[in-house]
Amino acid sequence: MLDLNGKVALVMGCGAVADGWGNGRATAVLLARRGAKVFGTDVVAASAEETRRLITQEGGESQVMQCDATQSIQVEQVVDACLQRFGCIDILVNNVGVSQPGGPVDMDEAVWDAQMQVNLKSAFLGCKYVIPHMRTQGGGAIVNVASVAGLRYIGKPQVAYAAAKAGLLHFTHTSAVIHAPEGIRMNCVVPGLMHTPLIEGLAAKYAKGDTQGFIEHRNNQVPMKHMGTGWDTANAVLFLVSDESRYVTGTEIVVDGGLVAATR
Ligand SMILES: NC(=O)c1ccc[n+]([C@@H]2O[C@H](COP(=O)([O-])OP(=O)(O)OC[C@H]3O[C@@H](n4cnc5c(N)ncnc54)[C@H](O)[C@@H]3O)[C@@H](O)[C@H]2O)c1
Repeated sequence: MLDLNGKVALVMGCGAVADGWGNGRATAVLLARRGAKVFGTDVVAASAEETRRLITQEGGESQVMQCDATQSIQVEQVVDACLQRFGCIDILVNNVGVSQPGGPVDMDEAVWDAQMQVNLKSAFLGCKYVIPHMRTQGGGAIVNVASVAGLRYIGKPQVAYAAAKAGLLHFTHTSAVIHAPEGIRMNCVVPGLMHTPLIEGLAAKYAKGDTQGFIEHRNNQVPMKHMGTGWDTANAVLFLVSDESRYVTGTEIVVDGGLVAATR
């Protein structure tokens, strides 16, 4: 079950903004634990390197490379480097994402544009350069990490992030249909309120730096009364890239402790 031996996974955004288990780091380590060779990238080289260290420490195989996932040329170079090192790409995880606060009036146009780039264009570029290789190989599995903010208003004014993640969901549905005949599956994992190293940065942006109050507020928002972790996201990614989900494409797994169901 959920065996990835012999597979190669490219994980975009494999680091974490601070020490601990972000969605991308937990995913990279979990895929390696299940036997995949992991090629990880992050805009922060040291953060990607920490993920590589963790994988190596557990006896896994990985390589990392710095990459700004919003830059076409850098993504293309990453794909080439992964193919050169491991010979193929069976799995692509587009995990890069960042939320900036603001509504349509107070948000600077530049912030809107940057939010679209980092949350939506990054996944487009990953797919653009990886899918041709998957097509040649005869298949592959892609998971894009979206957010419940793309499904519902979840209490934070983050209009560009929400719109980009909603766009990512439908980008995934549409691309999945286009590439289904080629054996390429595309799905989203939709994390809810997760307790990842991102939390302090979010508290600074959305709760005037009151991290403890922000954590309590987020726990209370969830029907299960606690946030999820990077591992909850990673476990859903693992299923969607494994052969056990071979008939699953163009859809999403919502990992949110019941949050979306409570706001239907
Ligand atoms: N933490 C949550 O509550 C939550 C909820 C829903 C969705 N998500 C999504 O999960 C994903 C990962 O979030 P996380 O909580 O692990 O956060 P994180 O910030 O710890 O991890 C994201 C990683 O992406 C990297 N990154 C940022 N911009 C990049 C770029 N331009 N190119 C390459 N790498 C870049 C960061 O350096 C970081 O290592 C994001 O897409 C986020 O939107 C998170």
